[in-house]
Amino acid sequence: MLTIALNKGTRILGKCLPLLAAAGIEPAEDLGATRKLVVPSKCGAARLVIMRGDDVPTFVEYGAADIGIVGKDTLLETNATDYYERLDLGVARCNLMTAGEPNATPPVGPLRVATKFAKTAVAFFAERGQQVSIIKLSGALELAPQLGLADQIVDIVETGATLKANGLVPLEVVTEISTRVIVNRVAMKTSHAEIEPLLGRLRAAVSARAANAVEAS
Ligand code: PRP
Repeated sequence: MLTIALNKGTRILGKCLPLLAAAGIEPAEDLGATRKLVVPSKCGAARLVIMRGDDVPTFVEYGAADIGIVGKDTLLETNATDYYERLDLGVARCNLMTAGEPNATPPVGPLRVATKFAKTAVAFFAERGQQVSIIKLSGALELAPQLGLADQIVDIVETGATLKANGLVPLEVVTEISTRVIVNRVAMKTSHAEIEPLLGRLRAAVSARAANAVEAS
């Protein structure tokens, strides 16, 4: 039985479950209603394990889960790197962006940037040769410019509504984000006969979804 680690955040979970269902993996219980963290699939070929996105790469790296479904933003930040990134599901698409107050005067010293995506932000500003001071926060980043903690933030922007509601404007795209499928290296060999067909069915589900979107537009 394959163990599939899923990010419990609704941004990803709600969009991945239909793709998994199209690939033959449907939870035996409603994941939104149950308090269980491990739910078998109806077909019995897999079990779905619900956890914080940050923990998905760790479970996959150590082989506690064979497969993980997680945002690229998490993969860019995690220290767990020993797994295969096999598929872009193309869902929960958003941008990691810099944002700040409109028409803000540039600071005299280094730009103060609040983010929970510290590694990605450091790499972005280093690439541009811009000196910044990174302030690590764990959420509600939009507060930082409003309360004078930082000049800018680096955060996920999907619709832009959260920035707007907090008087901030998007500035530059740091990187594009979407949901990825990662696979444990050992499982890729030992459970190849199960994993490779599942990846194939997921790939087909992603293509079918894209084709439907084109037809609908
Ligand atoms: C993200 C991000 C913003 C919001 C942006 O938070 O940190 O707050 O989504 O989305 P929008 O552009 O559609 O308004 P998320 O909901 O993922 O919660 P989190 O802060 O707990 O990660």
